[in-house]
Amino acid sequence: MSFDLKAIRAHFPALALTDNGVRRIYFDNPAGTQVLSSVAAAMSDCLLAKSANLGGYFASSADANAVVQSARDAMADFLNAPSADEIIFGQNMTTLTFHMSRSIGRLFRPGDEIVLSQMDHDANVWPWVMLARDLNLEIRWLPFNTETFEFDLEVLDNIISDRTRLVCVGGASNLTGTINNVKAICAKARAAGAMTYIDGVQSAPHVATDVQDIGCDFFVCSSYKFFGPHQGILWGRREVLEQLEPYKVRPAPADPPSSFETGTQSHEGFAGVAASVDYFATIGESMAEDYAGRWPQFSGRRQDIHAAMSLLFDYEKTLASHLIRGLIEIDGITVQGISDDDAMDRRVPTVSFTHELAAPAVIAEGLAKRNIFVWSGHNYAVEVARTLGIYDTGGAVRVGPVHYNSIAEIDELLGALPDFLSR
Ligand SMILES: Cc1ncc(COP(=O)(O)O)c(C=O)c1O
Repeated sequence: MSFDLKAIRAHFPALALTDNGVRRIYFDNPAGTQVLSSVAAAMSDCLLAKSANLGGYFASSADANAVVQSARDAMADFLNAPSADEIIFGQNMTTLTFHMSRSIGRLFRPGDEIVLSQMDHDANVWPWVMLARDLNLEIRWLPFNTETFEFDLEVLDNIISDRTRLVCVGGASNLTGTINNVKAICAKARAAGAMTYIDGVQSAPHVATDVQDIGCDFFVCSSYKFFGPHQGILWGRREVLEQLEPYKVRPAPADPPSSFETGTQSHEGFAGVAASVDYFATIGESMAEDYAGRWPQFSGRRQDIHAAMSLLFDYEKTLASHLIRGLIEIDGITVQGISDDDAMDRRVPTVSFTHELAAPAVIAEGLAKRNIFVWSGHNYAVEVARTLGIYDTGGAVRVGPVHYNSIAEIDELLGALPDFLSR
């Protein structure tokens, strides 16, 4: 079987919901995707049958331990981590980043430099700006080219210096949709002796992740962006984690990954994460046999997951291309991102646009009345919106299809849009 949209949609009960008999079209996915029924079932089972704290002598505690281990194993496969012991769970990406920044900052001295990007969500910006303020560090900014919506990587050579200790950058932008060349950025940082912190929240749902190939030191993502529960997940390179002092209470485990997981975790969240990763493996097995050859270095579940991601991204590229072509045909619309049809592999299908007359919020509200769900505003991509000059004008309308959306849904959006494009 190849890509089968009907079979895929059957995994998501919310896709069948209606309001007053009107179908829902979910294009709000970059802010959070709909959840798999298998995820809800795994979370329910964890809550109803495996509720206990970790490390006890009794059966429910052993079950809880098994849930935690299976979630670490699943995420290690999803990210191609060398070891499940490098997978750290937390409430969400933002909380994990504030938390880790405190430990990472202990390695720095006043005057050391952190490179931040103007393409990033504020969750990979402000924790580092606050750290810099607290420790007298310097921030250096990596700009992006507002015509290509990509970094000019030569610029980075002048930004990285012998004082650079950390480079923070996103895998993909939640506003422009650009997929950043994080592998090249990490190579430059590594050559200068700097660590790298990759915000994979918007890349992980769309493109296969291989942290070893990227060559980063930290990679962080959120499973509610890839059909799972509200849960943050961080991969940290073992040698780096071992250098850090975790902020923890005395009786808590001394070694990574648990030493970085403060307090009692959401075990039901872990169960849901494992189920969401297993969904990709199932897609890999049932629909993506032809893609397995793209990942010859992997076998078993790791290969199935990566093959599934390749298949789903190929489908998502057709959605992005159809959406962008439709948008640019509408008078007055500017796509705030890569729009060349032959460049769809350099962007995720998250497409933001502005209109010369209509405010983004007015368009989003109008579409909501047709039960088409999109976001408007800067979506916390503060630096991106400022750089594009749309921060003070209401940001952009963001349409974010994922692999459970259809061309027909995009056509409904394109057909409805002109009704909301007056001032
Ligand atoms: C690129 C990016 N980074 C970070 C975040 C923050 O993620 P979380 O809600 O898990 O803190 C988001 C949320 O939308 C995001 O899009």
